[in-house]
Amino acid sequence: MADFLEIRNLSKNYGIVRALKDITFSISRGEVHALLGENGAGKSTLIKIISGEEAPGSGSLVINGEEVRDFNPARAMASGIAMVHQELAVFENMSVGDNIFPGTAFLSAGGFINQRKTDREAKALIDLFGMHISPRQKMDSLTMGQQQIVEILRCVSTGREIILLDEPTSGLNREEVGKLMEIIRRLKGQGITVVYISHRIDEIKEISDRVTVLRDGNYVGTYVNDGKLTETELISRMVGRELSGTLYSARTEDGIATGEVVFEIRNFSKKNSVADIGFSLHKGEVLGFFGLEGSGTNTVSRMIYGLEAADSGEAFLKGQKLKKLSPDVLVSAGVMYLNNNRKSAGLLLNSAALDNLSLPRLKQLSDGFFINRGKMTSHAEKYIGEFNIVIPSVYQIPRNLSGGNQQKLMFSICMGNSPEIVIINEPTRGIDVGAKGEIHRFILELIGKGLSVIVFSSEMPELISLCDRVVVMAKNRIFGEVHKGGDMTQEKIMAKAAGSAAVEA
Ligand SMILES: Nc1ncnc2c1ncn2[C@@H]1O[C@H](COP(=O)(O)OP(=O)(O)O)[C@@H](O)[C@H]1O
Ligand SMILES: [Mg+2]
Repeated sequence: MADFLEIRNLSKNYGIVRALKDITFSISRGEVHALLGENGAGKSTLIKIISGEEAPGSGSLVINGEEVRDFNPARAMASGIAMVHQELAVFENMSVGDNIFPGTAFLSAGGFINQRKTDREAKALIDLFGMHISPRQKMDSLTMGQQQIVEILRCVSTGREIILLDEPTSGLNREEVGKLMEIIRRLKGQGITVVYISHRIDEIKEISDRVTVLRDGNYVGTYVNDGKLTETELISRMVGRELSGTLYSARTEDGIATGEVVFEIRNFSKKNSVADIGFSLHKGEVLGFFGLEGSGTNTVSRMIYGLEAADSGEAFLKGQKLKKLSPDVLVSAGVMYLNNNRKSAGLLLNSAALDNLSLPRLKQLSDGFFINRGKMTSHAEKYIGEFNIVIPSVYQIPRNLSGGNQQKLMFSICMGNSPEIVIINEPTRGIDVGAKGEIHRFILELIGKGLSVIVFSSEMPELISLCDRVVVMAKNRIFGEVHKGGDMTQEKIMAKAAGSAAVEA
């Protein structure tokens, strides 16, 4: 097969994050080419460049012998490229038919949308997929999986040359996944090139002709799926990076924490979301959670803090059952939550660092009704010093700080509340190596002070060096657990996270 899509020395940075580093490989016409890699490997970035949503920093993209000059979605669409995004993008208030053919697909002579044609064509696609829904149905009456399929159908209806699917099965049940596989085979039969991103190695082995593995923005290799390609090989290529000794301050003690159980979750379930989640956190322990995209870890991180409701389940703090699980109950019980999204949670980006640091402790920093500016400033300066926050003055607003310094500011605000338990979601996503090391050191200091910590992270090396135990999720359930001094290796974690049959081996 001739090279159809050539990716030549492609690099892309987002600020200091090097999402793609000098990637070169090619995709043949009419093949199903899988992209495999951990979270953050650069898969989505690569196909966003192909779909014209992102422009590369350097390097080039050649489609059918012609170098792409302008990277914009309209150009890509005009050349028959369509993409299903990792995040569901549907119009909830519109009908299924209008979602499959949005806008101007079928215009009548007068320029009006031809509703009958839209619905007829939509019905044909729906039938092809064997779905029991009507084109006139509103999107919000569909399950998540059905909505995802509608989005895939929209893509199928417009992609004449190349179809890019970014983790299309994350919200699908087994039957729906089977249907998708059929659709992909049909597309391939029509000579359409399919680029398929998934973490699920079983799917990749089933559907792909070749697999390209990316790791930390680097190209690892392209492998022919000839039936001899093993799951173990693929996993080790995905995770085979060196653990950097300088980056992570590894804990010295081994083994499992035996302290009192300070926080416990039993049987948390939510329909179409997560099932039967249960775990305990011991005093003085760092408990990690790992799961690939769509595994449910993000939902769990929110649920255990009451940011998202569960249908059923119980939560206990030091053996006491909580009547209500909500952020305010938890905050007053000394449980803090640090979110990875500094923009939407935790920081008042346009208020001085001073105010950010003082707000949680206004009572202590006031004399009667009056805020004591002197106390406030020295409190803020103390934390800024302790956390090594690089900031010109306490009056600086967080918006102007680097990501790492924003994160450190958030940590210091959290510490102002003297918590006993800290739940951290992606402590170091998107921040530079130096700040990463300091945040890790800080987390380990918390443990030294007798606190207990839960860390949700998509970075395995981070979890391995920080955690006593790591709970691994796959397919919306807890799939296993590894612990320090035992089986805590990247390969073991990845095998469980891939929902692998070879887990017990
Ligand atoms: N818009 C963005 N701004 C900043 N960083 C980004 C952005 N998109 C992706 N990244 C970063 O680029 C890297 C690669 O991301 P991505 O391509 O989404 O990986 P994958 O799809 O393999 O999980 C990650 O470190 C991610 O955090
Ligand atoms: Mg992605």
